[in-house]
Amino acid sequence: MIKKCLFPAAGYGTRFLPATKATPKEMLPILTKPLIQYGVEEAVDAGITTMAIVSGRGKRAIEDHFDISYELEHQIKGGSKETLLTEIRSLIEQCTFSYTRQIEMKGLGHAILTGETLIGNEPFAVVLADDLCQHDEKGVLEQMTEVYEKYQCSVVAIEEIPMDQTHKYGVIAGKLVDNTDDTYRITDMVEKPDPKEAPSNLAIIGRYILTPDIFDILRETKAGKGGEIQITDALLEQAKQGKVIAYKFKGKRFDCGSVDGFVEATNWFYDKMK
Ligand code: UTP
Repeated sequence: MIKKCLFPAAGYGTRFLPATKATPKEMLPILTKPLIQYGVEEAVDAGITTMAIVSGRGKRAIEDHFDISYELEHQIKGGSKETLLTEIRSLIEQCTFSYTRQIEMKGLGHAILTGETLIGNEPFAVVLADDLCQHDEKGVLEQMTEVYEKYQCSVVAIEEIPMDQTHKYGVIAGKLVDNTDDTYRITDMVEKPDPKEAPSNLAIIGRYILTPDIFDILRETKAGKGGEIQITDALLEQAKQGKVIAYKFKGKRFDCGSVDGFVEATNWFYDKMK
């Protein structure tokens, strides 16, 4: 069973400057809820209540968000606005939140390794909050925990992308493992390849379940594409042993790390609310 979820949230969010100069990207709201809260809710829906957050300089607003604000609560108590805090209060009651800081932003793989101190020696989920996932019946992380229970190895969520977008993602090659077309055993993976070098159009999105041997692999992983320590490179080591499943998730994903995806998500959630 997966009990802990890691949120790498130390990145600079340069695509959203100047908004992210003093505000964490993860705190940008889609309607009234910050991105990271959607991620925590998805983890809770998957039965996970221990949240581990890798933060960095200028990210303190995340800690304050998952805490009580006595003054504010006192102000709105008994009024019509009190219900606006119901969801976040419920998360605070159900979950524990712990934090560690990534001192140097050396890439997603390095951020995940920084989280080892909060995770320990057990399989864990990873959510990149800027990939906002939505499914009305079953959240993507819940779908993935079911895949993990079946295969007992690392699981990455994938989706089909247009071939001219491969340079933005980790891209996999894999063999279908059952009659449906939703699970593949990964045979190769490349970080941000040019379309000509991409092994397929199946891209990894910001949801992972990782077995804890990934930490030892990450310790040995050298900087790769973009001079960053890449989780894709570490996962390739597990994949060589046949130990990574790619799962084509059901639902929608919005790339809220980009302005286009952020606007698309805002419009979609606004239409849904009306
Ligand atoms: P991104 O590359 O999408 O985020 O990293 P970024 O670097 O913050 O954004 P841009 O590209 O400059 O606009 C994917 C995830 O990995 C985290 C980010 O916070 C994001 O959730 N990350 C990335 C870290 O925690 N540490 C790093 O060193 C790099």
